[in-house]
Amino acid sequence: MKIIIDTKENVAKRAAQRYVELLANKPDAVLGGATGSTPVDLYKELVRLNKAGEISFKDAKSFNLDEYVGLEGTHDQSYRYFMNDNLFNHIDIKMENTHVPSGIDIECPEKYDEEIKAAGGVDMQLLGIGVDGHIGFNEPGTPWDSLTHIVELEQNTREVNSRFFSSIDEVPTHAVTMGIKTIMNARSIILMATGSSKAEIVKAFIEGPITTEVPASILQLHPFTEVYLDYDAAALLSK
Ligand code: F6R
Repeated sequence: MKIIIDTKENVAKRAAQRYVELLANKPDAVLGGATGSTPVDLYKELVRLNKAGEISFKDAKSFNLDEYVGLEGTHDQSYRYFMNDNLFNHIDIKMENTHVPSGIDIECPEKYDEEIKAAGGVDMQLLGIGVDGHIGFNEPGTPWDSLTHIVELEQNTREVNSRFFSSIDEVPTHAVTMGIKTIMNARSIILMATGSSKAEIVKAFIEGPITTEVPASILQLHPFTEVYLDYDAAALLSK
């Protein structure tokens, strides 16, 4: 794992440069997307670079990590809506090349892995991390060999995410998420974490044991993972 520590602003800029490099070398790259607060600055920077002509997504494809079960893509808290609103509507990617797992058509979630494979596999997967170590919606205890599947959300995750809804009762109880194996299949991974609330889990997943109790700890075994941290998130690292 390569660890990059900088200001919150620079972390977004430096992560964006990885997209510039990747798409310059491979214009039809397959990008793995994430939602949440962490990637918002990165997406703003990608929009800026795209408008400045420094990066093009016109041949790129994207596959997002996860979606709430029961929310249509038009719901303003769905992850499809988030991606369109924060990124896809503002860059030159073809909308038909963007994929977010459906929270409505959930009969065969593992079909998503087949679609990713058919597209050539994910070249660069973006991840955030939950305070309990989740990646995607893979909560502690998720088996390492999991593919895209439906999960029941932990109460803590629902509480943390309730800030985006008018009340906790409106937060869906289930989500569809790429599995740990789906994520590990990506050729390269960028995990971003910012803010002091992530400091403890950042230390645990980077320096602690590899355990299903800390899903992100499996990334210690991934050959091309870069972790982008701001100073607050990196504060408890010992090295
Ligand atoms: C989002 C996702 C989640 C978030 C994580 C951190 O697609 O899969 O794992 O990355 O919950 O969320 P934020 O960035 O809001 O702290």
